Amino acid sequence: MAKSKTAFVCGECGAEFPRWQGQCSECKEWNTVSEIRLAPATSSSRNARFSGYAGLQENKVQTLNEIAMTEIPRIDSGFRELDRVLGGGLVPGSAILIGGNPGAGKSTLLLQVMCGLAGRMKTLYVTGEESLQQVAMRAQRLGLPRDRLRMLSETSVEQICHVAREEQPAVMVIDSIQVMHVADVQSAPGSVSQVREAAAQLTRFAKQQGVVILMVGHVTKDGTLAGPKVLEHCIDCSVLLDGAADSRFRTLRSHKNRFGAVNELGVFAMTEIGMKEVSNPSAIFLSRGEEQVTGSVVMVIWEGTRPLLVELQALVDYSQLANPRRVTVGLEHNRLALLLAVLHRHGGMQMADQDVFVNVVGGVRVEDTSADLALLLALVSSFRDRPLPKELVVFGEVGLSGEIRPVPSGQERLTEAAKHGFTRAIVPWANRPKHAPEGMEVIPVKKLEEALAAL
Ligand code: TYD
Ligand code: MG
Repeated sequence: MAKSKTAFVCGECGAEFPRWQGQCSECKEWNTVSEIRLAPATSSSRNARFSGYAGLQENKVQTLNEIAMTEIPRIDSGFRELDRVLGGGLVPGSAILIGGNPGAGKSTLLLQVMCGLAGRMKTLYVTGEESLQQVAMRAQRLGLPRDRLRMLSETSVEQICHVAREEQPAVMVIDSIQVMHVADVQSAPGSVSQVREAAAQLTRFAKQQGVVILMVGHVTKDGTLAGPKVLEHCIDCSVLLDGAADSRFRTLRSHKNRFGAVNELGVFAMTEIGMKEVSNPSAIFLSRGEEQVTGSVVMVIWEGTRPLLVELQALVDYSQLANPRRVTVGLEHNRLALLLAVLHRHGGMQMADQDVFVNVVGGVRVEDTSADLALLLALVSSFRDRPLPKELVVFGEVGLSGEIRPVPSGQERLTEAAKHGFTRAIVPWANRPKHAPEGMEVIPVKKLEEALAAL
């Protein structure tokens, strides 16, 4: 029997190292590197691993233009938002990871997708977390057709592959990858080595059989469960279903996509009858009336790995109190004090006798300093009682001497704003784009006075 090998892998970013180290030199996280035992590579599995779409093509060297391209039609999932995020539907023979916090609605969404697909093709839903009865009851409650979808309750990858070879589904769901285990790997299900090997085997199976495999993966901050980051190397698409706990809206984004662009945004709403598509997402994040009001501005903040458009509101009003109130919701209190001082000193606006209330709409928490400039302009707008243009977005950090400092990913922020129909942007000078997004007027500013003048 071949000797099993070990490797050291970071649980956050999936980087591999020859020996253990306290800090991952790729993503700079501490204590995330752990030893994993790789399954002994048999010669057949080694071949399959390196030949990619094994079984579909021979292993010989060809030039690009000699390669026969057969247009494989994509499978329409029945959800336009999901198809768009995946780049236009499910590609046969691909492995797709659906990540998200527990309770985000991954199982619900996939159950709805699969029940819809079952009428058109062979499907298999493998559940390792919930019992078959639980899934059946949910399907009944959601009013989904239950007569075609094939169900299997199983956590052994070998067994799943065996059943799938007989069932020959075109699309299958693995819910979830964290509870799956491979016989060759000794460690517990959910550990980095198990998750990696299970995903690798299932991906290989998808490619060999030409079946679409949708894998569910839970995202957790602590290292006990392997985050989907570890898997991103082997799968074709990784999408994340995300949503605030107190909000019924869920966003779906791709972080890796071999068959389309990343950064596509899909929006769903969790209702009593399952997940519903939201066709006009900017309407909910920026749910503003037609009428333009004072003290309201839309900013582009950076959330994790992506831009997000959020509305910020400020209300500045004359105070009867000896100590005027300073209230912030969704923003840091000290940041407001700092910006009021800057506004006084460098903008010549005295708000010491005013109550100031600041609110980030939609329950979003902003930790990003790129909200500074938006907050300043919202304060000025409310103080002066002059509404800001509706089609304006703002981002930028404000320094203590009134200078507007650059923030990371300026271009992506502008692209995101343009996608949502904004046509004007006030941005830090250093973030001015070489090519502004089409139809957008970008006003770069260096100092606070310039920003105020731009209004
Ligand atoms: P679920 O799909 O089980 O989440 P995941 O698989 O991502 O962990 O969804 C669970 C949550 O969704 C649960 O808190 C209840 C809520 N929910 C609804 O609001 N409406 C519904 O119709 C369903 C099925 C779930
Ligand atoms: Mg679930």
